[in-house]
Amino acid sequence: MESNLVEITEGSTKLLVPRESLVEKAPPREPAFFNPRARISRDFSIIAYATFLKNFKGPKTFLDSLSGIGARSIRIANELREVEQVFVNDVNPKALEIAEKISKLNNVTNCIFSENEACRFLSLHSRRDQRGAVVDVDPFGSPSRYLDCAIRATFHGGLLSATATDLTVLHGLFPAACKRKYYGVPVRTKYGNEIALRLILGCTNLIAGRLDVKIAPLFVQNNMHYYKIYVKVLVRTDDQEEIGYILNCKNCGNRHATKEVKNECDICKSKAELAGPLWIGSLYNKDFVNEMIVNEAQFQVDKSCKKILEKCRDETEMPPTYFTIDEIAQMHRSAPISLAKTIEKIHKAGFRATATSLNPAAFKTDARIDEILSIV
Ligand SMILES: C[S@@+](CC[C@H](N)C(=O)[O-])C[C@H]1O[C@@H](n2cnc3c(N)ncnc32)[C@H](O)[C@@H]1O
Ligand SMILES: [Zn+2]
Repeated sequence: MESNLVEITEGSTKLLVPRESLVEKAPPREPAFFNPRARISRDFSIIAYATFLKNFKGPKTFLDSLSGIGARSIRIANELREVEQVFVNDVNPKALEIAEKISKLNNVTNCIFSENEACRFLSLHSRRDQRGAVVDVDPFGSPSRYLDCAIRATFHGGLLSATATDLTVLHGLFPAACKRKYYGVPVRTKYGNEIALRLILGCTNLIAGRLDVKIAPLFVQNNMHYYKIYVKVLVRTDDQEEIGYILNCKNCGNRHATKEVKNECDICKSKAELAGPLWIGSLYNKDFVNEMIVNEAQFQVDKSCKKILEKCRDETEMPPTYFTIDEIAQMHRSAPISLAKTIEKIHKAGFRATATSLNPAAFKTDARIDEILSIV
């Protein structure tokens, strides 16, 4: 093994990673990029792709368009035995050299390596018989520039996953840049991660519409460093749109999804802000998440995956946006009460309420802010 590469294990796969990537705060891009902190993202990919491929009827191929050293794709090839072929692509030849070494180290023989610009790689897979059952887009920054080619390279009925790491843009620090990249604007709120995920889904849906297909979200996941969406690409059969806005009132804390452009809070009548256009439909598919929970046990993944998935299952039918227990306490000018207690009180008052996978100290409910404040 070269002295600058270190062997580590993720899941049941051995990886060779640049030594500096394990010690430096921000993993260096040279000689090749590897982020050890994205392990949980790869764990979730393993569970999601396995779940998806179990029921997928066509050729079980995986297209990794921005593979880096192949940490995700070679784990897929090694840990998901049902996958027939894995295409590992990156522009960095040094990353591909390492990826090939990793495949040999794990005795994986179904990987095809290529050194192409991601859109070129994906375009080479846009013919119907060349498309991927699963396609992943995992760039530095925004995935928006790759989404057209990625959708074209995904089987109808296939799964597309895309990651975004341009957090400042999605969190509302640069609204003009967000509008340019995602066709929608965020507002700065306590539930900014949900708005970010909905903006990525909204943009993907808009591009899919142009290509005469539609998306159906199966699962989303985020942490402090990235957002990731998993959507099924389907032939467009109807024109029902799950695109709209999220109205947020800074004055009274009111928030909800709406299909209309309106700027007045329906509770306190103050001027409210609108985030969007963005995805206002469900973020999760309940059956899919339930199957992910069952399949999780087959893999060597982080313990937190199961707990997060259980929260996703519980919140699948809840309306968009959540409330943090801190902001409720702040509005009440009192110490926060526990999440479990808050949820229990809301249930007792006859409303629905669940924890949310998007924030450990927050809940989703169909009660309005004025109702929550009088209940809690
Ligand atoms: C975030 S890393 C990928 C990490 C990898 N998917 C994983 O899970 O470990 C992004 C990769 O994209 C590659 N890259 C950047 N721009 C590219 C482009 N236009 N086409 C293909 N690869 C590109 C970089 O060389 C880098 O390896
Ligand atoms: Zn208001």
